[in-house]
Amino acid sequence: MDSFEWNKIFAGVIGTALLIMVISTVSSSLFHEGEGHGEGHAKPAFTIEVASEDTGAAEVEEKAVPLAVLLASADPAKGERQFAKCKSCHTADAGKKDGTGPHLYGVLGRAVAGVEGFGYSDDLHAVGGDWTWEKMDHWLDSPKAMAKGTKMAFAGLKKADQRADLLAYLNSMSDNPLPLPEVADEPAAEEAAPAEAEEHSGR
Ligand code: HEC
Repeated sequence: MDSFEWNKIFAGVIGTALLIMVISTVSSSLFHEGEGHGEGHAKPAFTIEVASEDTGAAEVEEKAVPLAVLLASADPAKGERQFAKCKSCHTADAGKKDGTGPHLYGVLGRAVAGVEGFGYSDDLHAVGGDWTWEKMDHWLDSPKAMAKGTKMAFAGLKKADQRADLLAYLNSMSDNPLPLPEVADEPAAEEAAPAEAEEHSGR
């Protein structure tokens, strides 16, 4: 049989099935009042399975390595090389001279926008708090994302391991380096969900 014949048969089957469905729907609504008639409801004659198309490459969620882990193996010497990208505007040594950007000696642990007399942008001022590891990591990833109107004309350092090296270097340029953040034993450890039992006991 050629495919045309098959098409006709297929169309016939579907047509019949639809008819059966219509009849069974109508009849079941007709007979619905009289419960207990013992009439078995006709099952749909067929089901159409629509094969869902494969959407191709499943989105692989890249698990970011935690900053603490990156910092544990970060190399200040490599970070010093990264700092070449900053030198046109910043110094990090104990001379504490401001340039286009504020000096960065001891910047980790220092108040954000905390160098006296430096003309920071309002947006960086608004960030507030001290420079923690996390905050500095976000800042160097994308200064604009943290402080939209920042005066720091630097797109950001996109590689997390390079940022970690740079952070390690910055931390070394300080009278009071910050202790490294603790690495969690189980990076994927899930905190137990807070018990909801109490919510239902009120009834
Ligand atoms: C083109 C000049 C320029 C470059 C390049 C630059 N910065 Fe900056 N940086 C600035 C300016 C200007 C500010 C002040 C930003 C503001 O007030 O919004 C700043 C602010 C900062 C601050 C905040 C300091 C504080 O006292 O709160 C840090 C940290 C910093 N920069 C680190 C870096 C690092 C690390 C690099 C290199 C990866 C870098 N910057 C590259 C100009 C620059």
